[in-house]
Amino acid sequence: MNIPPLPGHPHLHYAQGQLQLEGVRLADLAARHGTPLYVYSRAAMLDALAAYQRGFKGRKARICYAMKANSSLAILQLFAQAGCGFDIVSGGELERVLAAGGDPSTVVFSGVGKTRGEMRQALKAGIGCFNVESEAELEVLSSVAQALGLRAPVSIRVNPNVDAKTHPYISTGLKGNKFGIAHERVLATYRRAASLPGLHVKGIDCHIGSQITEATPYLDAMDRVLDLVQAIEAAGIAIEHIDFGGGLGIDYQGDAPPAADALWAQLLARLDARGQGDRMLMIEPGRSLVGNAGVCLTEVLYLKPGEQKNFCIVDAAMNDLPRPMMYEAFHGIVPLAQQRAGETQVYDVVGPICESGDWLGRERTLAVQPGDLLAVLSAGAYCSAMGSTYNTRARPAEILVDGSAAHLIRERESVSDIFRSERLVPAKI
Ligand code: LLP
Repeated sequence: MNIPPLPGHPHLHYAQGQLQLEGVRLADLAARHGTPLYVYSRAAMLDALAAYQRGFKGRKARICYAMKANSSLAILQLFAQAGCGFDIVSGGELERVLAAGGDPSTVVFSGVGKTRGEMRQALKAGIGCFNVESEAELEVLSSVAQALGLRAPVSIRVNPNVDAKTHPYISTGLKGNKFGIAHERVLATYRRAASLPGLHVKGIDCHIGSQITEATPYLDAMDRVLDLVQAIEAAGIAIEHIDFGGGLGIDYQGDAPPAADALWAQLLARLDARGQGDRMLMIEPGRSLVGNAGVCLTEVLYLKPGEQKNFCIVDAAMNDLPRPMMYEAFHGIVPLAQQRAGETQVYDVVGPICESGDWLGRERTLAVQPGDLLAVLSAGAYCSAMGSTYNTRARPAEILVDGSAAHLIRERESVSDIFRSERLVPAKI
């Protein structure tokens, strides 16, 4: 009996009672590679990208994958080959782009705290644009570029003061956030940028937050950015491109964000109505390209019934899946073997780490036994990339599934990898 795909996860389905990602049985991967294990679907990533590509068909546009969501080299390689540029936030991310075969001229560099060293590295590599986040950064960037005999391509990141209606930790477009330059200061900052010898003004940039599930905040931000473009160009400074950031949400728990192509149809209509539709557009999606393409497999270690709660203790933890602990985020949790006939119980699914914040799901109804395997869903974005080795837990392996093939794209870390760079002090005599 074949069951339709899980909602929001078009490439994840049960076949003969076993959970499969594309054509690969996840239990087979767990048996071969152990758990915890991240597994990603290539087709799901390319489908998510295709929605944006459809949205921009016939337009001058560049999709810069916000690689902070998942920066594994093979995933960068996949997006580079599919024609994407990259949004980076560190010199380390730039090195990853180059190692994966990405083209530096398609890279935009965001972030409030770029160091002089990172600026030099990015200038020498020939990146496409710096998204500058403060007036102080503008001055430093100009002097760093001048010292190299170069002019840095820049956009100024506008803080449009719109409410993205998302979790406060991932909202970035409000006055109280550290990001971007306040709307009121933008024109003066462009004037200054245009006067600095080490800079070349290229565009304007905006990113209002993450896991956005409504179109309205985007439309409001677009209006504010377009008003600014008009004012900046009236001051004689050409704006070649508009970078509209990322932030489109995914379905974690019945969330219904607009589809990328539908959202962009609305935004492009707004642009066209204002006569701005033929300008080069750039966007920086992260989560919406990879989030629902990945799962994290984990094994049930112990069941621990209690007076107030039952705990299902698994071998993945907050170091592998930090979003529940950090944002009280919901991730679906489903068994790899379709629900066994047996008694269900309500469990808090928790990891082995010595913190009460180490939970992966609360009040989940499951029929499980020790040794059973579970999949934590929506684990393609901000899971492996935000992972740590807390409690000296080595990082999981990662697999990229392509049809019925499964490629190991990251080996499981060993404990000696973790402490390789540490040193003992000389023994006392
Ligand atoms: N561009 C910039 C400048 C950003 O800061 C971000 C995300 C993106 C693009 C991509 O946003 P996305 O399309 O992925 O929403 N760790 C949090 C999310 C942090 C997002 C940070 N910035 C989480 O797990 O929910």
